[in-house]
Amino acid sequence: MIDLKTREEVEKIRKSGRILCAAFDIVRSNIKTGIPIIELDRLFEEFVIKNRAVPGCKGYEEYPNALCISVNDEIVHGIPSGRKIMNGDVVSFDSCVLLDGWHSDSAFTVIVGQSESEMDTRLVEVTEKALFIGIEQARVGNRIGDISFSIQNYVEMNGFSVVREYSGHGIGRKLHEDPVVPNFGRKNTGPLIKEGMCIAIEPMVCEGKSGLYIEKDGWTAKTIDGLKAAHFEHTVYVSGNGPEILTI
Ligand code: MF3
Ligand code: CO
Repeated sequence: MIDLKTREEVEKIRKSGRILCAAFDIVRSNIKTGIPIIELDRLFEEFVIKNRAVPGCKGYEEYPNALCISVNDEIVHGIPSGRKIMNGDVVSFDSCVLLDGWHSDSAFTVIVGQSESEMDTRLVEVTEKALFIGIEQARVGNRIGDISFSIQNYVEMNGFSVVREYSGHGIGRKLHEDPVVPNFGRKNTGPLIKEGMCIAIEPMVCEGKSGLYIEKDGWTAKTIDGLKAAHFEHTVYVSGNGPEILTI
């Protein structure tokens, strides 16, 4: 069942999203070679709690931390540890915030310091652009498959592959609601997009072949071929006038 949100409800998700973005800004400004990633998780959590919100990932299906931090061949759901990030690492940050009963969800990827890999730079650019191309399709009258197709098509046109095991999703009172928003699919298929829908769109893109395995920690998803991956995500509201991003 797809729950359509009222304007008032959307404003609550937007407030939640603002805290998430501000917490991400703190993370961004602390990213530097040599910092243990657990320190970034701590700064994120501290900020969210100070703003009377709840770090929504922590405790979600027993996930242990506030932030998911995935480095290089880790695609998503990397668990923060004492690992220090190094120059040239491709690092994805994914998190959600719960405020006043409403969830927001967002992710971004950066390259630490100076990248020597043209492919890594392109990976990050193409993944972010794929997100915005997907968002552009989140319009009344389109179908979810239009979002999925446009993301897959753009990524594959650029020689990369999309992750198929994880998808975007509806979002609101629950972190994961209907509909499922895959990053691959066909035009004009899937649920009709209606005014009031709130969805998290989140392309996960691999430099090499699509395909993943889960680490022994039960969470970290890694590419099988060991090549790098990137992830961008926004929570989006479908208004009568087009998509509105709630996590900026
Ligand atoms: N963007 C992630 C998702 O939709 C946020 C949840 S992370 C988790 O799955 F660690 F809590 F699972
Ligand atoms: Co999500």
